[in-house]
Amino acid sequence: MTTMAAPQTLDALLDSIRARTARVGVIGLGYVGLPLVLLFEDAGFPVLGFDVDTKKTDMLNRGETYIRHIGRERIAKAFANERVFATADFDRLAECDAILICVPTPLGTHREPDLKYIRITAEQIALRLRPGQLIVLESTTYPGTTREELLPRFEARGLVCGRDFFLGFSPEREDPGNERFNTKNIPKVVGGIDAPSMSAAAELYGAIIDHIVPVSSPEVAESAKLLENIFRAVNIALVNEMKVVFERMGIDVWEVIDAAKTKPFGFMPFYPGPGLGGHCIPLDPFYLTWKAAETGTWARFIELAGEINTAMPRYVVDRTVEAVNQHGKSIVGATVLVMGLSYKPDIDDDRESPSFELIEMLQERGAAMSYCDPFVPVARRGRKHDLGLESIACTADAIGKYDAVVVSTPHTQFKDPALWSQVRLAVDTRNIVPRGVAGLDVVRA
Ligand SMILES: NC(=O)c1ccc[n+]([C@@H]2O[C@H](COP(=O)([O-])OP(=O)(O)OC[C@H]3O[C@@H](n4cnc5c(N)ncnc54)[C@H](O)[C@@H]3O)[C@@H](O)[C@H]2O)c1
Repeated sequence: MTTMAAPQTLDALLDSIRARTARVGVIGLGYVGLPLVLLFEDAGFPVLGFDVDTKKTDMLNRGETYIRHIGRERIAKAFANERVFATADFDRLAECDAILICVPTPLGTHREPDLKYIRITAEQIALRLRPGQLIVLESTTYPGTTREELLPRFEARGLVCGRDFFLGFSPEREDPGNERFNTKNIPKVVGGIDAPSMSAAAELYGAIIDHIVPVSSPEVAESAKLLENIFRAVNIALVNEMKVVFERMGIDVWEVIDAAKTKPFGFMPFYPGPGLGGHCIPLDPFYLTWKAAETGTWARFIELAGEINTAMPRYVVDRTVEAVNQHGKSIVGATVLVMGLSYKPDIDDDRESPSFELIEMLQERGAAMSYCDPFVPVARRGRKHDLGLESIACTADAIGKYDAVVVSTPHTQFKDPALWSQVRLAVDTRNIVPRGVAGLDVVRA
């Protein structure tokens, strides 16, 4: 990498961004951080990727990928470039002119925000903070985090925000696997602590993203991200509740949604499922409920949505037990296959997937469980689950051997009618099992 004198003022930083000489550091090379590295590389910036996981940094430097939808060629091309390097050496943060924080923000065991990764990262940056640096937090979190957790740690170094360094929040809106929208063409909300911070952050993101949405503060940007995810969580809970109500009334909720969505205004379709999955929707809303309690306010919609959505796996299990019974079998000793371990179709991300709960709950009822997921050949051990299972082959012969097959993830491959030719009982939570296959009983759940 070429070394240039680091910009020390706002004007020098803006000039270096325009000239593509500003070195960009991305901390946390996961689903959010890695695409950012690639975009900045593509735009001609020197980029340093930081991660505590040296397996990841080593793989990247060898040109290998660990995220299925980001192909090997794309990584190999970017990391073959001497402008780009991945490292676990945080002393190199001092070389960066702009630092983007993309570390995890999980929940603790009592659904409280766990900010330890943000705090550790803030300490790492503070140790190397120098004049002229821009720092932007991208991790999803409650309003106030940037101002309360990052700003004081940086100012404790004797540097002044807006004059010596620049600080803001800009939430990520990744949708892995979405072919229409990617990091570049999804509008990016940006909020700076002050006007100089705002202009530095807008200049940086403007270099790689088509449309920047400036807002008046980091708190607005932090809240906008939470509102987006809460909107989804609440609407998914609503259709999940409608599913249960309509089911009792003998009405097909999927047909109802298809009819309702023909209204050209004022309605947006959401679809029921076996429960919430993924890194965002099941977790993020509780960042707000926790913070809201500080001001004596209660976010009741969030709590209610959480209650309904977390009850869904149990509902699916109950429907499966009933269906197996109606086929003249007891769930004890029945062989049950769960189709799909990832939390959404055609990707390999299994974080917070409800499939884990379905498998464990059916195991508790006495069923012999297996799963089939071409994207997740081995069920990795996670924080909460350790299934110790490997995927069975995704063939008609293999899936036809089970007493019941429960569809949890709507992978495209699962929609092939030929796959279902030997199955007798399907419990379909995603409305994808083909109808009219001879000898196949499809139960909705
Ligand atoms: N995945 C998404 O689709 C998505 C979308 C929007 C927002 N987000 C948010 O973005 C943030 C990151 O999510 P993600 O999905 O990329 O997570 P991830 O788990 O895929 O990646 C996080 C990376 O950070 C690394 N890491 C952990 N501690 C670190 C530390 N102290 N220093 C450096 N690296 C560290 C991990 O090794 C991992 O590689 C979270 O706040 C998440 O809520 C995620």
